[in-house]
Amino acid sequence: MKKIEAIIRVSKFQAVKEALHAIDIDFFSYYDTVGVGNEKNRKGSYRGTSTDTEFISRRTLNIVVRDVNLKKTVDCLLKAAYTGEVGDGKIFVWTIDESYRIRTGESGDDSMYNKD
Ligand SMILES: Nc1ncnc2c1ncn2[C@@H]1O[C@H](COP(=O)(O)OP(=O)(O)OP(=O)(O)O)[C@@H](O)[C@H]1O
Ligand SMILES: [Mg+2]
Repeated sequence: MKKIEAIIRVSKFQAVKEALHAIDIDFFSYYDTVGVGNEKNRKGSYRGTSTDTEFISRRTLNIVVRDVNLKKTVDCLLKAAYTGEVGDGKIFVWTIDESYRIRTGESGDDSMYNKD
């Protein structure tokens, strides 16, 4: 199993969700994220008050998939979250050692939705 962390634009969330659904990846956690990217230290002002735009709002998706579904999920994210402008986000992948479904006690791939 692999865990995919995708930090995306909030404006792309709906499109990403629908694209994942279209490839049968119907399960993920997400949370709103404050981050710092290349755009850091860009200070502005609004009506005379200094605004701090150093921190950038993004949305982070955490998706755990069976190894067999890693590539299609990453490809889907790369496509659906893309605008081509600076700040499109990042994707990180790491290996999950163990997974359990609490209700049944199933573990590993058996505890995942995305069985083929
Ligand atoms: N190395 C990193 N580790 C953890 N989070 C990161 C990292 N790089 C970026 N992020 C998070 O991703 C968000 C979006 O990053 P961003 O898209 O600006 O990446 P980038 O590498 O600067 O790409 P770009 O050149 O398109 O701006 C950041 O606001 C931050 O929340
Ligand atoms: Mg950046």
